[in-house]
Amino acid sequence: MQHRGAWKSRWTFMLATAGSAIGLGNIWKLPYMIGVNGGSAFVLVFIACILFVGIPLMMTEILLGRRAQKNPLNGMAKLAHEAKASPHWQWLGGMGMVTGLLILGFYSVIGGWVLSYIVEAARGVFTDVSGAQSAANFDELLASPFTLFFWHTMFMVMTMGVVARGVNSGLEKANNILIPALFAILLVLLGYSMSVGDMVASYQFMFSLDFSKITPVAVLSALGHAFFSLSLGMGSVMVYGSYLQRNVSIARMTIYIALADTMLGLLVGLAIYSLVFANHLAPSAGPGLIFQTLPIAFGHMPWGSLIGTLFFMLVAFAAWTSAISLVEPAIAWIVENKEMKRTTAAWAIGLAVWLLGIAVLLSFNAWKEVKIIFGLNIFEVLDKLTSTILLPLGGLLMAIFAGYLMKKTHSQEELGLSHRAYKTWRLTNNVIAPIAIVCVFLYLFGWVK
Ligand code: TRP
Repeated sequence: MQHRGAWKSRWTFMLATAGSAIGLGNIWKLPYMIGVNGGSAFVLVFIACILFVGIPLMMTEILLGRRAQKNPLNGMAKLAHEAKASPHWQWLGGMGMVTGLLILGFYSVIGGWVLSYIVEAARGVFTDVSGAQSAANFDELLASPFTLFFWHTMFMVMTMGVVARGVNSGLEKANNILIPALFAILLVLLGYSMSVGDMVASYQFMFSLDFSKITPVAVLSALGHAFFSLSLGMGSVMVYGSYLQRNVSIARMTIYIALADTMLGLLVGLAIYSLVFANHLAPSAGPGLIFQTLPIAFGHMPWGSLIGTLFFMLVAFAAWTSAISLVEPAIAWIVENKEMKRTTAAWAIGLAVWLLGIAVLLSFNAWKEVKIIFGLNIFEVLDKLTSTILLPLGGLLMAIFAGYLMKKTHSQEELGLSHRAYKTWRLTNNVIAPIAIVCVFLYLFGWVK
């Protein structure tokens, strides 16, 4: 077995895990999902899912990783052995690795959109752009497979380049400055949206208490997105936890990360919808939403080209640190088991994901109408399969393992919580989160209407 990396301090762990959690999920996906799923109904369920499912399961995933001190597959095998459970639990780790690669297949394509927008912003393409023009610019990007291919390739090379070097490559240190910078620039954006946009409409759209609008599909998407946004259910957090020292409080780390992650997403949402309503755009525009609305803001504010360039650079950075965590479980497994160097493993896996990404980018143009199943194209299948099935399933199994199979003394030892706090974690991990996930699955598979 090769030498394993370890975080230098709790801050590097926290920044790396926050770097994993904060990404396109917050800036690109959450805003458009809010619009597609009817606004506040989705937001309220999403927040509930973060509190009652996301936070406890993030603690669970970190504790499993730290106890195992291994990649997810061998780690689950080790924990299963320790708990005298079936060795088949290792496939939970295996499933996570595959899930991560499937997600990266489309993540990289969207990361490519962001990269191309850095250049567009810098070239001044957004200056004085109208809503219609901005939407047309984005459609033009989607209609150009070669441009998409170029940027997807760039994004993959950037990601695998870091992965090849290992987790302590110094990227986490950059996180230290860049995540706060992202928050700062977001506040500028929010300030601008507040002054020219329709913040009242945006606020009402996102937060009005209207439970009548909650639909089963919104609940399904909200739960899936809670997993996606916090990087849960596939082993990203588990593998990062496995590099974490023993003396760090898992609960405190989790709460900071979950708060920062959720706040960031909701702030982007507020800024975006305020622009959407002021410019009479459609809230339900789908995956192109931020690429159609943000240029309008950057195109009209003072210093817009500069601020826009910086903004898309920071988003690209956030996406980059997330992408790395999507492949790390698979790479850690290969390096710890096979006679393969980290660099070789990184480029081999990278190649496979890059090919998958090509299929995804074609699903925005040439293969748009190629429906794989249930009328969904390649991008949609990968997105739905991972967010609404594989991640919640992974989370459910982790919760069951940690709650029912692992010795109570072991989980208690890892979490190091007071008696009351431990009981709260146990209640959410053992009962509330599993029931929520199972209910969603029963609906999803049509067993309950
Ligand atoms: N959470 C990241 C985002 O919001 C994406 C991500 C990274 C992820 N690692 C993950 C999603 C693991 C699910 C599982 O952009």
